[in-house]
Amino acid sequence: MLVTFEGIEAAGKSTLIAALAQDLRTRGDVVLVTREPGGTPLGDSLRAIFLDPAFAVDPVAEVMLLNASRAQLVAEVIAPALKAKTVVLCDRFFDATVAYQGYGRGQNVDALLETCLVATHRIAPDLTFLIDLPVEVSRARVRARGGADRLEREDAAFHTRVRDGYLALAQRFANRFVVLDGTQLPERIATAARDVLAERRAGPLL
Ligand code: TMP
Repeated sequence: MLVTFEGIEAAGKSTLIAALAQDLRTRGDVVLVTREPGGTPLGDSLRAIFLDPAFAVDPVAEVMLLNASRAQLVAEVIAPALKAKTVVLCDRFFDATVAYQGYGRGQNVDALLETCLVATHRIAPDLTFLIDLPVEVSRARVRARGGADRLEREDAAFHTRVRDGYLALAQRFANRFVVLDGTQLPERIATAARDVLAERRAGPLL
């Protein structure tokens, strides 16, 4: 089962993933936690380039960097794990490219979806948690954290388009998206996600 986690900056994905991973392991599941961009030696190198504020990256080059990391992650890590019936928790997946590079940068959403599916060998998430958060709250959290990366330095209008893009994706793919309220306390978010996960896993195929 492939479960992905999405949201704008500082939405609380890492905290949620850590809580769910611990929970699943306690129940005896084999769990793999990974992230995008990154998750492999090649992907981690591409991530460093991707986030480096020193580079002015062309929008199409951005997509190619992300999909290079993604293709490597799927081939090397995700596809073998899914074959072994491992529960894979992935911090961002191709919905991030559609939200950031599509809605955020204004590139064609359907063309991007197709390119991403080529990178994943058409593997798509079984379940996607979108932690939704107002942009002002996200920006305040990033400021408090300090050391903003290349994407975090984009303006509020960009991050508003990304947030709205994610919400559009959640409507379009309502069968796999679950929207969580990122302003809630982390424990409440984890409880809500845990309930959904238990429900989905009781259903067919997962
Ligand atoms: P993270 O901060 O959640 O680790 O994500 C790294 C950054 O990369 C974040 O600003 C979102 C951005 N990103 C994209 O723009 N497109 C993508 O496809 C992915 C996976 C991440």
